[in-house]
Amino acid sequence: MIGRVRRVLYYRRCLDLFTASSSQEASLPHDYEQFSFRPLSVNDFSADALFREKNRFSKFVKRLASGHQCFGFVEPGGQIVAYFWLSIAHDASTTVPLAGALSFQIDPGHAYVWDCRTRESHQGRGLYREGLRRAQALAFTLGARSASIVCNADNLASRMGILAAGFTHHTTVEVFRVFGLWIVKDKVRSAYLPSWRPVLPLSDFLCLPA
Ligand SMILES: CC(C)(COP(=O)(O)OP(=O)(O)OC[C@H]1O[C@@H](n2cnc3c(N)ncnc32)[C@H](O)[C@@H]1OP(=O)(O)O)[C@@H](O)C(=O)NCCC(=O)NCCS
Repeated sequence: MIGRVRRVLYYRRCLDLFTASSSQEASLPHDYEQFSFRPLSVNDFSADALFREKNRFSKFVKRLASGHQCFGFVEPGGQIVAYFWLSIAHDASTTVPLAGALSFQIDPGHAYVWDCRTRESHQGRGLYREGLRRAQALAFTLGARSASIVCNADNLASRMGILAAGFTHHTTVEVFRVFGLWIVKDKVRSAYLPSWRPVLPLSDFLCLPA
């Protein structure tokens, strides 16, 4: 309760934003080691205990219904060992969660990879790196010209995986909420970005030169 109140009054997060462009497209096999990379459906979510944790099941069903796509590495026995959310804005923009109550608005032609997880028992085997490479290649095959991903600045495993998958660090963004007011700062360029809207256009960050 106290933690919740504190989070309403004060919230701070430092995020790294990475991008890749379609010139980096590579065709990749669906499989990595014994794991196959494929889209995940509601049936996959309902069959696996991983998705019953932290209210993921109902959240993920809603995401699929909103047009976001989920991909995963699946082992021969059917267990999902890693998953990746991919959102591609084709003709219209789409919105994805960023941090706290903030969201990113993704403009047409752009893809965004988010909420990725490797099952604890399978971490450190390259599944994240390989999944990100496949998500990226898939986004470009489906028409996106560029792709982005964000991770918490202190998430070393995520950062290493993102860089190893071929993304380039674009900027670091600091997000604060003080007494209900959102403040978003581009740390690399010391620029403050509009913070009164809960939906931030990703293009505001991308248009700044890297
Ligand atoms: C972050 C996470 C997805 C990484 O998954 P993973 O499948 O274990 O990652 P990989 O095995 O592909 O490793 C990716 C890179 O990070 C490095 N790495 C992995 N774990 C690491 C750790 N604990 N510390 C430092 N580096 C680490 C690996 O060496 C690899 O780098 P390399 O390709 O240059 O050798 C996983 O730890 C996880 O699910 N964490 C909880 C959720 C999360 O943080 N998601 C990411 C935010 S979207």
